[in-house]
Amino acid sequence: MSDSEETQLEARLAEQEAFEPPAEFVEQANVSDPSIYEEFEDDWPDCWERAADLVDWETDYDEVLVDDDEPFYEWFVDGELNASHNCLDRHLDSRGDELAIQWEGEPGDTREFSYAELHREVNEFAAALRDLGVEEDDVVTLYMPMIPELPMAMLACARIGAPHSVVFAGFSADALATRMNAADSQFLVTCDGYYRRGDALDHLSKADDGLAGVDHDTTTVVVDRLGDDHDHALGDDHFDYDDLVADHAGADVDPVTRDAEDMLFLMYTSGTTGEPKGVKHTTGGYLSYVSWTSHAVLDVKPEDTYWCAADIGWITGHSYIVYGPLALGTTTVMYEGTPDHPDNDRLWELVDGYDVTQLYTAPTAIRAFMKWGEEYPDRHDLSSLRLLGTVGEPINPKAWKWYYRHIGDESCPVVDTWWQTETGGMMITTLPGIGTMKPGSAGPPLPGVDARVVDADGEEVAPGEAGYLTVDRPWPGMLRTLYKNDERFIEEYWDAYSDSGNDEWIYFPEDGAKIDDDGYITVLGRVDDVINVSGHRLGTMEIESAVVDVEGVAEAAAVGGDHEMKGEAVYTYVILEDGYEEDEETRERVIEGVEEAIGPIARPEEVIFTPELPKTRSGKIMRRLLEDIANDDELGNTSTLRNPDVVDDIEAKVTGD
Ligand code: WTA
Repeated sequence: MSDSEETQLEARLAEQEAFEPPAEFVEQANVSDPSIYEEFEDDWPDCWERAADLVDWETDYDEVLVDDDEPFYEWFVDGELNASHNCLDRHLDSRGDELAIQWEGEPGDTREFSYAELHREVNEFAAALRDLGVEEDDVVTLYMPMIPELPMAMLACARIGAPHSVVFAGFSADALATRMNAADSQFLVTCDGYYRRGDALDHLSKADDGLAGVDHDTTTVVVDRLGDDHDHALGDDHFDYDDLVADHAGADVDPVTRDAEDMLFLMYTSGTTGEPKGVKHTTGGYLSYVSWTSHAVLDVKPEDTYWCAADIGWITGHSYIVYGPLALGTTTVMYEGTPDHPDNDRLWELVDGYDVTQLYTAPTAIRAFMKWGEEYPDRHDLSSLRLLGTVGEPINPKAWKWYYRHIGDESCPVVDTWWQTETGGMMITTLPGIGTMKPGSAGPPLPGVDARVVDADGEEVAPGEAGYLTVDRPWPGMLRTLYKNDERFIEEYWDAYSDSGNDEWIYFPEDGAKIDDDGYITVLGRVDDVINVSGHRLGTMEIESAVVDVEGVAEAAAVGGDHEMKGEAVYTYVILEDGYEEDEETRERVIEGVEEAIGPIARPEEVIFTPELPKTRSGKIMRRLLEDIANDDELGNTSTLRNPDVVDDIEAKVTGD
């Protein structure tokens, strides 16, 4: 293509507001009949049997939905199944020799597992876990990076009915300890380390530091990822993964029969208070829901080589690297490292090399690719791609179009999927074989999902107006409660409109949104005290308590400020005690404190020292004003402040005026 043709094309794309699904895609799509929306509506809640039909049940369920104790909904009641059987055993006859996992390490080493091989190792590790004393319903914590043993351990836990609680490997030792204590988890599976941008990182020391903060006895299994690149010693109560698996070579472990409503896993996520929330997902509803959305939205077929480039430490990886794709018997790709190592074309090299058919990633990554330039994807043949997806934060139309054009070559639909840890799976997105795509807008709610945009009184807003997102009906993949905390579950998600006399059970995701005339929803971002850094959810209270723990800090506030690449970045405002200097050393100590308490992802972009924080007359910190200052926006109303002068002082510090 000539330069001028290229320029014309870019100009046309820049103006275009709506894109139709490519005909070639529609022809082969798993779901392409628009009547599905009406069918689900007419047949609700029984429409969800379509999701359950994608799963193998040992015992059929009696009822699709039981709602006599709202909001503690139950799905596929009295059904029995096992998730590990669904992801492994049932594929053995038809796809035993086909690849289940295609893994690549950052240094370029590869490992492949057919369904038969994955089944074998999961059985062996399940037997080993049992031998170590893991019983049904014991919570097993998995603190591991992107290595094959992570999904293996998840499936081994599922096989013996032990819920897993995966803690993102980038989280700190303290974060690990908090989560193990909260779940009363006595078992940990971790590893010696992993590769990051060419370095062999020690992970075990961090795990051991975390274990030191756990207030009960623990048993730990350690995977050897780094071999000779990193020697590690096994402490008391530590077992080597390879030895355990070798000791149980050939073992068969019957998948434990689980009730549909039995817990499959726990996933801790950030909320408004400092305490992470233990989101509980169940076996029947969750597995059905992620299978259905993988089928309908990601268009997964068994013969695909599907790649979700997220980390299994977050919900996206649970639902769309492990459970959804493996339940459907496809090949799921895993990559250990970063997209810029050894060069900025690493992802495209993988897509090209493995003939990846679907790519599901985050807007923060797409913004980085765009900044690096199209020369990197242009080096490779990406024609194997059939569908592109994004998740985790709003995607701006410019990045959407860049992805569509330079990665998808205008021949792949792009699904912008809105959902949360709590929803288990996707909720708002176009169906790729049906819906017109509008860059920047996720799309309509999925068939059967009732999402709306309302004002503070719960009334639906007019098209184009900003409001709050709500979900007005339950869905199979929904969280069932917060672990051992039903009260907080209700307070956090179901209580928003009780003051305005609304007695219906409406789920409140804590996101702002607007809706257009076609019912397309654009998600604007969080309305609670959660910061979304590169698609990672962080609680302001968690960050603030980390900063206040730093010696010499009297008080602190953390807010999210706009950031070109990360979407949002952490800004911390800090008041020091008398006798401490507002200098570089103190700033470093604040940053280190946050990294130690949470992890490098929460590292503050700016530490701003201030003599006071803007507070309302009732003493509440006005975070919104601090956000305006961080963003250099016009300041909102300051008249309700007890100390309006402080705002000028802080602004002067941030802008250096
Ligand atoms: C945000 C990640 C806009 C949103 C699966 C939500 C999005 C939070 C989108 C959940 C999207 C996720 N467009 N915003 N397509 N997807 N979000 O629990 O604010 O880590 O509430 O789950 O991410 O983050 P979580």
